[in-house]
Amino acid sequence: MATDPNQQNVAQAEKGAYEKYFRPGYVHSDLYVSPKLFAEEMRLLFANVWVYIGHESEIPEANDFVTRRIGLRPVIMTRGREGEISVLLNRCPHRAALVCRQARGQAARFVCPYHAWTFATDGRCIGVPMNHAYGPDFDVSAHGLLRVPRVTSYRGFVFANLSEKAQPLEDYLAHAKRYLDEWLDRGDRLPVLVRAGSMQFEAHANWKVVYDNAGDGYHPPFSHISMLRVFNRRYGDVDMQYYAGNFDESPLISRDLGNGHTLLDQRPSMHKQSAWIRQHVLPGREILWAQLNEKYGEARALEMLDASTGSGLNLTIFPNLLIIGNQIQVLEPVSVNRTTVHWYSTTLDGAPDEINAIRMRMQEDFPSFGEVDDMAQFESCQQGMESVPEMPWIDIRRHMNTGVGYLGEDGIWTEPISSDQHMRCYFGAWREIMNHAAVVQGDAHV
Ligand code: FES
Ligand SMILES: [Fe+2]
Repeated sequence: MATDPNQQNVAQAEKGAYEKYFRPGYVHSDLYVSPKLFAEEMRLLFANVWVYIGHESEIPEANDFVTRRIGLRPVIMTRGREGEISVLLNRCPHRAALVCRQARGQAARFVCPYHAWTFATDGRCIGVPMNHAYGPDFDVSAHGLLRVPRVTSYRGFVFANLSEKAQPLEDYLAHAKRYLDEWLDRGDRLPVLVRAGSMQFEAHANWKVVYDNAGDGYHPPFSHISMLRVFNRRYGDVDMQYYAGNFDESPLISRDLGNGHTLLDQRPSMHKQSAWIRQHVLPGREILWAQLNEKYGEARALEMLDASTGSGLNLTIFPNLLIIGNQIQVLEPVSVNRTTVHWYSTTLDGAPDEINAIRMRMQEDFPSFGEVDDMAQFESCQQGMESVPEMPWIDIRRHMNTGVGYLGEDGIWTEPISSDQHMRCYFGAWREIMNHAAVVQGDAHV
């Protein structure tokens, strides 16, 4: 029988400071409710992985910027005069104030609102008022904003890593790169644009409760039952109805992409017919469809429309990036039991207006209609973990011992979609990074 490489990884994980929170098939709820563990995770985990910061198209012009986070660290993603992108720690070297307090904008320099120390878009300090008072040896240029040392863009997705020694981004993405490519190559390979900001939800739950759900192919027919019933009653056999019955016998799969990244692939069922025809109703659907038919002919219109519905991929890139349908979801931990969930809509540069209108309207589809079901479960799980210390273990055993997993021809470990391998995978990565970081940084957990 083939062996699940993920379980091997877990078994081989360095015995370290955090091992007491794991048992085969279970994780301890302190991982979700302990403020101390949360602080360690924000400090260590997020300093040692590639974290998604934003999309290049959010800062198209020189001097454009957006503010984001790496764990709890505020950062500014800026574009310089030559088009280069920098990610700067948004912490004034003077007294630690937030230098930039806007979500986005355009600025040739950043002036700290407290005492007006001033910085260029690459972080260099270019002004300190009345600096003679710091003595003759004071060097203004030595007091810049800290630059995140590793910043790499993969086809428009900008990631940053606080560790100088980090492996190259493409190695870190591992098999996730292939699926990111597949997602980007839909729709005639037109460049993806993220221009409309994000729709935000505030979850009263630990960020990992949200992350758990991103690769959970077990819950849809139960958590989203009312949504599925409404769609079924009104529109028949449309999107997501393939979750009916024993969906483990269907072609829906969960895949281990390496380094804690995973995939739920619904495409084999979703694209059984046209994905557009199976798409449930959207405001303006018929009008936009008719316009496209008239302009491009029915066959070409359908081809474009099929690439504009949900992609059928739930691609989860550890620790904070989720590609769902046409949307980019980003998780922003706020505190041990608060998470901001951002949904960014995407359009295609050069696509017909009708196609981009449909892509924008997709924000009214699952992000508005289905996400609320999930939010209710996130908050309920968090409450259960916080209020019942007598039952501290979280069960992640599904398909761990059924022997149905297999190594695909492409070298990717694959299980039925309802498997918990998503959680087993990313907690395997979590353990390795946290145990290692605690040792290297002499920050042993007690
Ligand atoms: S804290 Fe920024 S200038 Fe003083
Ligand atoms: Fe869900």
